Amino acid sequence: MNRTPPPPLLKPVIALLTLAIFLIDAFTPLDIAIAVLYVVVVLVSVHAWPRYLLRITALCVVLTVTAYLLSSWGDLVDASAGRCLVSLSAIGISGYLAYSSHSANERLWQREESLRESRLQLAHASRVTTLGELAASIAHEVNQPLAAISANGAAGLRWLNRPEPELDEVRAAIGRVLSDTERASDVIKRIRALARKSDPQQQALDLNEIAKASAALVQRELATHRVRLQLDLAPQLPQVEGDSVQLQQVVINLLMNGMQAMDAQGGGELGLRTFVQDGAVHLAVSDSGPGIAPEHSGKLFDAFFSTRSDGMGMGLAICRSIVESHGGRIAAVPKEGRGACLQCCFPLRMTEAA
Ligand SMILES: Nc1ncnc2c1ncn2[C@@H]1O[C@H](COP(=O)(O)OP(=O)(O)OP(=O)(O)O)[C@@H](O)[C@H]1O
Ligand SMILES: [Mg+2]
Repeated sequence: MNRTPPPPLLKPVIALLTLAIFLIDAFTPLDIAIAVLYVVVVLVSVHAWPRYLLRITALCVVLTVTAYLLSSWGDLVDASAGRCLVSLSAIGISGYLAYSSHSANERLWQREESLRESRLQLAHASRVTTLGELAASIAHEVNQPLAAISANGAAGLRWLNRPEPELDEVRAAIGRVLSDTERASDVIKRIRALARKSDPQQQALDLNEIAKASAALVQRELATHRVRLQLDLAPQLPQVEGDSVQLQQVVINLLMNGMQAMDAQGGGELGLRTFVQDGAVHLAVSDSGPGIAPEHSGKLFDAFFSTRSDGMGMGLAICRSIVESHGGRIAAVPKEGRGACLQCCFPLRMTEAA
């Protein structure tokens, strides 16, 4: 639920309407309960000044009584006293109803906020758990550029220590050290981003980049489980709008599920494919495992549904909540041959769709 700001002209219009009602009520000889129109002021003020609703209702009451005193001075107990009472009741009742409805909306909004916050916390906790499972992969990913830095540093030193130093070789070795340093720092940045707990950042994203970054993080894990990963990424994939950390979490969860499904058979093939279809960007993870049993297909995305002895059953539930918060959908789709295929689709960014 979003709080939308009131239209910019609403406040001046309410102020003018209030003034007009007061002037007509106080200074014209009309025999109608014009002050009843303060009900409109009260009802519209819910959108313009929701926090001051009671004060605005009180102001309308004061203006009604003032106009009555000004217009009926000298003969206070005439027909206009009845009209004044009708107006005051209408204003009081509408003020009370508007205030109750605003308070109910406010409570609903706060509940939705705390639900959103809990979802973010759950997603974060699950990300940190996954990072723990990927510790070996992460260590390997960081270790690779570090080993290369060390080898290039040693080579550079050897070239320098020659009787006639080979400066071109030293320069090339330092260049490689710098680019490997950048690689290592990129890996650490990616892992820190996954471990960090921050509000989702909406930005233009290339799902191919997300797929590659996720695949890099699970590479070692795949090798340990004797799983071959085949990337099939569509060239010039249109961008989607979203949070890169959350989408990486989805892809990593799907890859880990596929890998774990093939554990019992001692490994297999995993496919990660991106493509465009029906005006949406799709990402599919397929495996050559046992597939999804028909009796499980309706519960896959339920929280705490797991057939694994050490599974929490939260991976796919979190994937669905992330994908849907990006305006997308996720489902298990039929697959040719053995195995399962989980596919998500995301709407194109506005500029891409136009
Ligand atoms: N690729 C797949 N092949 C076969 N079954 C799958 C596959 N992916 C998911 N499942 C089934 O869906 C269940 C729920 O998956 P989910 O990722 O939500 O939880 P989990 O992997 O069991 O535990 P975790 O919370 O640690 O991820 C799995 O236990 C498994 O039975
Ligand atoms: Mg899982």
